[in-house]
Amino acid sequence: MIASSIQFGFGNLMQMYISPKDFLEAMKEMREIWIEKYRPKQLKEVIGQKEVIDRLQSYVRTKNLPHLMFAGPAGTGKTTSALALAKEIFGEAWRNNFVEMNASDERGIDVVRGKIKEFARTSPIGGAGFKIIFLDEADALTSDAQAALRRTMEKYSAICRFILSCNYSSKIIEPIQSRCAVFRFRPVRAEDMKKHIQWIAKMEKLEVSDEAFDALVHVASGDMRKAVNSLQVAAALGDKVTIDIIYQTTGTARPEEVKRLLVTALSGNFLEARNLLDELMISYGLSGEDVIKQIHKSFFELNIPDIEKVKLIDKTGEVEFRIVEGSNERIQLEALLAYLVLVGSTTGTRKI
Ligand SMILES: Nc1ncnc2c1ncn2[C@@H]1O[C@H](COP(=O)(O)OP(=O)(O)OP(=O)(O)O)[C@@H](O)[C@H]1O
Ligand SMILES: [Mg+2]
Repeated sequence: MIASSIQFGFGNLMQMYISPKDFLEAMKEMREIWIEKYRPKQLKEVIGQKEVIDRLQSYVRTKNLPHLMFAGPAGTGKTTSALALAKEIFGEAWRNNFVEMNASDERGIDVVRGKIKEFARTSPIGGAGFKIIFLDEADALTSDAQAALRRTMEKYSAICRFILSCNYSSKIIEPIQSRCAVFRFRPVRAEDMKKHIQWIAKMEKLEVSDEAFDALVHVASGDMRKAVNSLQVAAALGDKVTIDIIYQTTGTARPEEVKRLLVTALSGNFLEARNLLDELMISYGLSGEDVIKQIHKSFFELNIPDIEKVKLIDKTGEVEFRIVEGSNERIQLEALLAYLVLVGSTTGTRKI
């Protein structure tokens, strides 16, 4: 009896024993950020940017490229594609021939004359024909800095290619745009995004309800980084991820609640709408800007005549601008609700 209990205890201890190496691995695993863990390593793994990827792969085949400009919303694969492109073109030597700089850290002309020029003029390493400078957030550069960049791009084009990444191509001066092949990254489509996060959930052995996947896709609005990050934050609360957890952890109100707020106001119940607004802002911790963005999304789901939608969207634009400019968000949001009541009453909208 004693012997067997000792044996039992020892067996348990053996099972519980974790080597320092495994312990470190486990700690690393916990700390690991999924957007990095699941960042596509090769161009063919990038999701939902087929035309862009096809063209980039043709550069890999010829082992040459012009200056490139990647334009598009956040979290759609611009940095990822630039990294994958460099790895496929340079192979092992990619680290020596690729440098990533962020223009929003230093936006002025000095960085172009200093760091960027320094790297541009040094020779490629390991038999590569050129190096790549990936300039993230290039639209943050001042116009003076962009003018200086234009000269650097020309002067060292024999040994250096630029990939400029930006959210808005219109903020890049015309002479630079005309020196680059422009690639437009699109928001990732809902079905592509859903498949990708379903795959990540499977890899992480999570139990995620179908509605929760849909909620993640809704919250992310085409931004894959946001979808993956939100899944990780929700997963930190447990292995079961539900729709409620998604909306709570992402600080997003449920679309049906926002719709209820709008319908209540359009039906003339101002005070009730005001209470609903309070509830939304408090329970989800939303700021005025968050609320206005969600309201804007919800108009398209309302069953009202197009002309009313146009009026509401027009007003929402004005209110959003005022909030961003720093006016009192409470007053602005209530003014919007009051406007909804007025629109509802003049056109007699009752059944929505
Ligand atoms: N098209 C995609 N396919 C697969 N994963 C993606 C895609 N786009 C983004 N991701 C995921 O989101 C993370 C961030 O993407 P990335 O850095 O490429 O975004 P970005 O377009 O450069 O955004 P930003 O404009 O904010 O710099 C990646 O590490 C990856 O996990
Ligand atoms: Mg980026």
